[in-house]
Amino acid sequence: MTDVHEQSADPTFSSDVKPLFRDLDRNSMIGAFDLWKHSDVVAHQDAILHAVESGGMPCDGAWPATSVEVFKRWIAGGSKP
Ligand code: HEM
Repeated sequence: MTDVHEQSADPTFSSDVKPLFRDLDRNSMIGAFDLWKHSDVVAHQDAILHAVESGGMPCDGAWPATSVEVFKRWIAGGSKP
């Protein structure tokens, strides 16, 4: 049976999402959550999406739309590790 979703195309945290977060991002936000830790990012994924989509974060310059899309597809695909 074939699933309608291309499972292999879903972004993963380790390969696709973690590399979006710089040392500066992680260090700036470590008091609230660890941007390099899958479980922390999953726990705050809605707030993080809002922050990067609105352009409010990172504080020194908004993400390009392509990065926001990767983060959105990662959530849509089940926030895989
Ligand atoms: C992609 C990288 C980043 C993400 C996803 C992110 C995400 C967030 C989120 C979700 C909040 C709200 C936290 C809460 O209310 O619990 C927040 C707050 C904050 N972040 Fe970040 N952040 C990032 C990078 C940075 C950087 C680079 C800086 C500073 C150089 C920074 C400084 C702050 C500060 C000062 C706050 C508290 C004040 C505020 O809400 O504006 N963040 N961030």
